[in-house]
Amino acid sequence: MTVKPLRVGVVGTGFGRYHMDGFSEVPGVEILAICDVNKAEAQEFANKYGAKYVFTSAKKMFSMDELDAVSIASPNAQHLPMTLDALQKGKHVLIEKPMTIKPRDAKTMADAAKKAGKLLMVEQSLRFRPEAQMVKAYAERGEFGKMYYGRSTWYRRKGWPHLHMPPDGTLGRGLWFLQKRHAGFGALGDIGVHLLDLAWYIMGTPKPVSVSGQLFRHVAVPELKAKGLPIEVEEMAAGMIKFKDGQAIMFEVSWDTYTKPAMECFLMGDKGGASVFPAKVFRGNDIDETVDIETHYNGLPIETPFSHFVDCIRDRRKKCIVPADENVTLIKMLDALARSAKSGKEIKL
Ligand SMILES: NC(=O)c1ccc[n+]([C@@H]2O[C@H](COP(=O)([O-])OP(=O)(O)OC[C@H]3O[C@@H](n4cnc5c(N)ncnc54)[C@H](O)[C@@H]3O)[C@@H](O)[C@H]2O)c1
Repeated sequence: MTVKPLRVGVVGTGFGRYHMDGFSEVPGVEILAICDVNKAEAQEFANKYGAKYVFTSAKKMFSMDELDAVSIASPNAQHLPMTLDALQKGKHVLIEKPMTIKPRDAKTMADAAKKAGKLLMVEQSLRFRPEAQMVKAYAERGEFGKMYYGRSTWYRRKGWPHLHMPPDGTLGRGLWFLQKRHAGFGALGDIGVHLLDLAWYIMGTPKPVSVSGQLFRHVAVPELKAKGLPIEVEEMAAGMIKFKDGQAIMFEVSWDTYTKPAMECFLMGDKGGASVFPAKVFRGNDIDETVDIETHYNGLPIETPFSHFVDCIRDRRKKCIVPADENVTLIKMLDALARSAKSGKEIKL
C-alpha cells in the first residue's frame, strides 16, 4: 500500500529555509508550496526544493486544498493571524518561536487548534537538540531525584538581529526584529524563549507562580543611533521564575555583551544534576559522566522538529514534544518578566 505524501507549505525564506531543509529529509513529505513577500527568493527556494507553487500571500497559499500542513517562519506579530487562518482552513501548523507576543493570543491559538482538531506545534528547536533529549531522558527516569533549580545563559557578542546579521544571510535579517510592534520582544523573546524553555522543559514544566526580572539595552545603542535604527527592544534580559513546589529557574540572555560568549544550561536535583552543553550528568559523590550520543541513541533516529511534527500528524496519539498549551505558559512567563522589569515589582502568576 502506498502512503499518501504529506504536503507542506513553508512561509518565510529566512529561517524558513531550515524548515525546508528539515522537511526535505523526512520520508513521505512533499514541499508543495513556498511563500515569501520576496517573490524572487520564494522562487529560488521553490527551485531548490522542487516546490510546485510559489506565493507572495500566505492567505492564498493556505487556501490550497492540496496542502495538509504549513510551517511558518514569519515575523513574530504575524504568527497569530497566520496560525488562525491556517487552522481555520484545516491545516496542521508548525509555528516559529516565540509562539506569539501576547499571552492571550497564545491561548487563542492553542484553543483554535483544539477547535479545529489540528496539530499546533511551536518550533522550540532547542528541545530537540540531542543533548537536551538525552538529559531530559535522565530527568524523566528520575535519576536526578526532585529537580529544584535550573540556570541557563546565552551571551552573544555582536549578535543583534538585523544590526549584526547580514541582509543576505540565512536568518535574523529583517528590520522588524528591532521594531516592538513586529517583534514584541527583543532578546527576551528571541533567545530567552529558548533558554528559559530548555531548563523548564527538562525540569518537567512546573507551574510558575511568580516572575521577577530586568531588561537592559546598553552595548549596541551607540551603533543603533549612528545607523539611525530603531531603539525599541531590549538587548538583554535576566530573570528569576519561582514555581509551585519551591523550584526556581534563573536565566540570562543577551544579544551583545562585553563578556565571553556562552550557551549554558545547568540543572540540579536532590540526587543528581546535569549540564546540557555538552551533555554531562552528575550522580552520587564523584560521578561526572559525559553522555555519549552514539550509546544513548543506539542506532535509533534522532528526531528533528520537522520529523516529529510529521510523526505527530500521522499518529495523533503520539505525545508532542512541544504541546501548544506549554507554550501558552511560556509566553505568560516572558510577558510577566517584561512587566516586572517595567514595574520594578515581582509579578504573581
Ligand atoms: N527556532 C529558531 O531557532 C529560530 C531561529 C531564527 C528565527 N526564528 C524565528 O523565525 C521567524 C522568522 O525569523 P527570520 O530570522 O527568518 O527573519 P528574517 O527577517 O531573516 O526573514 C523573515 C522572512 O519572512 C518574510 N516575510 C515577512 N513578512 C511576510 C509575509 N507577510 N508573508 C510572507 N513572508 C513574509 C521576509 O521577506 C523574510 O524573507 C521569527 O519568528 C524568528 O523568531 C527561529
